[in-house]
Amino acid sequence: MPLVTTKEMFQKAYAGGYAIGAFNVNNMEIIQGITEAAKEENAPIILQVSAGARKYAKHAYLVKLVEAALLDTDLPIALHLDHGDDFEICKSCIDGGFSSVMIDGSKHSFKDNIELTKKVVEYAHAHGCAVEGELGKLAGVEDDVNISAADASYTRPEEVEEFVSKTGVDSLAIAIGTSHGAFKFKPGQKPLLRFDILEEVAKRLPNFPIVLHGASSVSQEYVEIIKKYGGKMDDAIGIPEDMLRKAAGLAVCKINIDSDLRLAFTAGVREYFANNPSHFDPRQYLTPARNNIKALVKHKIVNVLGCSGAALK
Ligand code: G3H
Ligand code: 13P
Ligand code: ZN
Repeated sequence: MPLVTTKEMFQKAYAGGYAIGAFNVNNMEIIQGITEAAKEENAPIILQVSAGARKYAKHAYLVKLVEAALLDTDLPIALHLDHGDDFEICKSCIDGGFSSVMIDGSKHSFKDNIELTKKVVEYAHAHGCAVEGELGKLAGVEDDVNISAADASYTRPEEVEEFVSKTGVDSLAIAIGTSHGAFKFKPGQKPLLRFDILEEVAKRLPNFPIVLHGASSVSQEYVEIIKKYGGKMDDAIGIPEDMLRKAAGLAVCKINIDSDLRLAFTAGVREYFANNPSHFDPRQYLTPARNNIKALVKHKIVNVLGCSGAALK
């Protein structure tokens, strides 16, 4: 099966009350762990690549690894650019075979965000590619951007109709209290997501797919393993899974997960070396890392996203 765009995936997800997992990838083991889990669960999947991941692994390697996953699994897979910063990177990914791109204009003024997003949409749609836009600012750390909690801002529902109609985007990322990274809430702070904003956005944009970034749950199982073997992970706190499940049953059709993968992978490697300090064959220590990724993604598909079996529908 060739790559699919996210358009049809999202229509089915909206109607079915589930979300598609959008998992960040940057190497073969991560791609294999994710797609093997998706295959066993018959789940559609989005593999997404940040600018940093693209720089690390190189565009051609990532595209070819995803092509290999398509051959291996025959699943509906979309290949998506995560947090495209400008028109050029979006164009390069569209020209280079991605089926979906995000243009993240959230750091710009509303007017400039519309202008930039519209330009990307025009190019993408002319080339059969879907586009995700963003309104509102998430806290947390991405490659080049570090937005403090004080500078983060919730999406303003009164802006979404104008943004979507003027830009023509296919999906919209909104800020309702999630954030990037493994430290999403302060110790003692009650995790809070603004479901009232999500519901107001959904009311204003009927049948329109909403995206949640910063949606890792930060599994304490992996945090404890990393800490046990010397890692510094005190106060790592994620989004409670029941909140994500609730969002997936509403208008949220895409849930972005990166930090959980990093934790699962790192826990596998650390545990392996703690038990086998003299080994030095990468195949040995990358096997438990890949197994952890697979177990994590299966868990997400079944318990958080609710999309098990959806590849067949
Ligand atoms: O939202 C950001 C993703 O977690 C990607 O992170 O830019 O460090 O690859 P990265
Ligand atoms: P997490 O850091 O919560 O995994 O978020 C990832 C993300 O939003 C990628 O765009
Ligand atoms: Zn993100």
